[in-house]
Amino acid sequence: MDAKAHWERIYHTFDPAQLSWYEEHPRLSLELIHRTGASKAAQIIDVGGGTSRLVDELLAEGYQHVTVLDMVGRALELTRQRLRSRAAAVTWVEADIMTVELPRDSYDVWHDRAVFHFLTEPEERRWYVETMRHAVRRDGHVIVASVLHA
Ligand SMILES: C[S@@+](CC[C@H](N)C(=O)[O-])C[C@H]1O[C@@H](n2cnc3c(N)ncnc32)[C@H](O)[C@@H]1O
Repeated sequence: MDAKAHWERIYHTFDPAQLSWYEEHPRLSLELIHRTGASKAAQIIDVGGGTSRLVDELLAEGYQHVTVLDMVGRALELTRQRLRSRAAAVTWVEADIMTVELPRDSYDVWHDRAVFHFLTEPEERRWYVETMRHAVRRDGHVIVASVLHA
């Protein structure tokens, strides 16, 4: 099964709150975003945002330019449904981070909780970093949450 099929199956099988990585309040992510000092007008992208509630909390705090990218359309659709009318304030990108063409120098904050984590080949990681460096502004911030396996 390829990676996309794997993630699609998950989002078609489970309720978001049943997922092992589910967080009712993504407190650490929010705290790290606060610590960047990004303004409410900053361009923030949540890479592999899935059904994360980070976007809900960012909107509630008044961040105006939030993008959620995920390779699974179903995950983005579930998040849009949860947000209802607030979904219109968000930029939704259904794409694989390994192939997407993001605009250059466009994000102040790049947040990724568990996409880079799944990239195991050096070449994939290099490509991810290239994409990120292309898309993040020179004075931007990158927050990547990953788990190291021994
Ligand atoms: C472990 S989940 C974490 C979701 C979310 N960041 C959170 O904290 O709740 C990983 C997410 O990354 C997405 N994903 C995995 N590989 C991806 C890729 N190459 N491009 C875009 N999204 C990807 C999956 O569809 C899934 O939504």
